[in-house]
Amino acid sequence: MADFDPTAYGASGIADEYDDLYAGHWETDTAVDRIAELADGGKVLELGIGTGRLALPLLARGIEVHGVDGSAEMVEKLRQKPGGDRIPVVVGDFAHADAGRGFTLVVLAVNTIFALPDQEAQVECFRNAARHLAPAGRFVIEAWVPDVGAFRHNRVVRPRIVQSDRISIETAELDPVTQTMRTTQAVFSEGSVRLYPANHRYAWPAELDLMAQLAGLHREERWANWTRSPFTADSQAHVTVYRL
Ligand SMILES: C[S@@+](CC[C@H](N)C(=O)[O-])C[C@H]1O[C@@H](n2cnc3c(N)ncnc32)[C@H](O)[C@@H]1O
Repeated sequence: MADFDPTAYGASGIADEYDDLYAGHWETDTAVDRIAELADGGKVLELGIGTGRLALPLLARGIEVHGVDGSAEMVEKLRQKPGGDRIPVVVGDFAHADAGRGFTLVVLAVNTIFALPDQEAQVECFRNAARHLAPAGRFVIEAWVPDVGAFRHNRVVRPRIVQSDRISIETAELDPVTQTMRTTQAVFSEGSVRLYPANHRYAWPAELDLMAQLAGLHREERWANWTRSPFTADSQAHVTVYRL
């Protein structure tokens, strides 16, 4: 896999299996509720819109949704779904792509900020999100909290899907110097094994807050999840709302 190429995620072949692998594993309904509230009646831009897991239910609620995605394959899956042709999508790198102005909310869900290769690109992404916002607009990010303690000699193997007819196992290798993690998810089902590589440049919540400040945003909320559970020392992920 090419390192941190914005087209790489879809090029791995995951577009065909994405909805099946992730539907039901993530709290989509609650995320959609919260995003709709945060949009406050305005239009929403989703960076890394993918196959429309969040965008299509938002559209169904009457919210104007736009997107950016680096993968033509993922966008094609979105286009094939009912309503998918009514969502304007720019195919490009969300650290730089221009999808218009005046959004009350920009969304970057499921750790996708970490798909950018380094701190500089992540800061650029915050700046780009801020450029798209209407006055007092919000940027909401969902990301995991790095758990380097789970690694031994910078490597870990962990089960993801455990079903009677399908399992998946993820291998991960850390480079603490560059704060990068290379992962491959191996999906095993009857008669087949598929490999889905993905690279991450991880950052702790406080580093993301600083990136937001550099982009002229301030932190308004931090929850442990989309249901607004309190963020604590034990939280493994966070949903953070930044505001202009
Ligand atoms: C984990 S999927 C999330 C999709 C969707 N947001 C969801 O919640 O189901 C990440 C998406 O971000 C896209 N992506 C990753 N890096 C990107 C980049 N630098 N620029 C644009 N899109 C990117 C991938 O192609 C993929 O569709």
